[in-house]
Amino acid sequence: MMSKPSILVARAIFPEVLQSLAQVFEVESNQSDEVWSPAELTRRMQGKVGALTTGSERIDAALLQANPQLRIVANMAVGFNNFDVPAMTAAGVQASNTPDVLTETTADFGFALLMATARRITESEHYLRAGLWTKWSYDMFAGAEVHGSTIGIIGMGRIGQGIARRAAHGFGMNVLYHNRSRLSAELEAECKARYVSKQALLQSADHVMLVVPYSAESHHTIGAAELAQMKPTATLVNIARGGIVDDAALAKALAARQIAAAGLDVFEGEPSVHPDLLKVPNVVLTPHIASSTVKTRLAMAQLAADNLVAYLTRGQALTPLNTVTGSAA
Ligand code: GLV
Repeated sequence: MMSKPSILVARAIFPEVLQSLAQVFEVESNQSDEVWSPAELTRRMQGKVGALTTGSERIDAALLQANPQLRIVANMAVGFNNFDVPAMTAAGVQASNTPDVLTETTADFGFALLMATARRITESEHYLRAGLWTKWSYDMFAGAEVHGSTIGIIGMGRIGQGIARRAAHGFGMNVLYHNRSRLSAELEAECKARYVSKQALLQSADHVMLVVPYSAESHHTIGAAELAQMKPTATLVNIARGGIVDDAALAKALAARQIAAAGLDVFEGEPSVHPDLLKVPNVVLTPHIASSTVKTRLAMAQLAADNLVAYLTRGQALTPLNTVTGSAA
């Protein structure tokens, strides 16, 4: 009998997904869930033809060079800025991600964060928990209107469109968007969304929502200059990636009330959070959980596992990010 191919599961995942992988592969897994250093990850990758990773594992030229046997890395995330995709392609390594299965769940969370930010949900809860609530007042935690206001969405991919549909159809919002490319007329009509320049969006939106993938071009899409263009009553929500926002500049703008409030699920250098963000009250902070429902995280783990099985047994990943030559199983 031929021995099973060896794979690495670099972080803890659902035991049932691990069990299904173990039927096809020899599996080394990291159920203790410590985040390995690049050197440790490179070492664990030795002898493995496939790996399941999350956003915390960097796949770069040095790791690929030390592991010429590697054929596929399946990321359990839709974002893949932890992958050097050109280096993977050059090394003949398939890259895959988990699109679609998290779109609606992540759009739900974007909306939750927008509402929590605009309506000051966590700030007021902290006040209550601290025992400071002694009476009703006419302007207590008066926030920004959500329904009927103007949302500006930067990054109009699948998740951005999900937010636009919720905003337009559920909350009667006026939807503006900015994206590298314009949507088709059909999609614009379905999302009731109007394409505008980034500057027009920043100047007119009551709520700015960031859903753009991270890349060198999208680094600091929002910095001091952009914050200065926003309305003083506006809110900013980042469910995209750390690094899309200049967190130090945002902390300054929040402290100075240059904008009203922000909601952040992702951070530069996470899991570290800029210390000045922790000091300002007008920011809602969550630990990168936008896709985290049990159903969606299970679907993401399963899709990443299915990519490994599909590629290593049939030579075709289900949701590939690159085209590699000589990919036959
Ligand atoms: C999460 O951030 C993802 O990219 O899926």
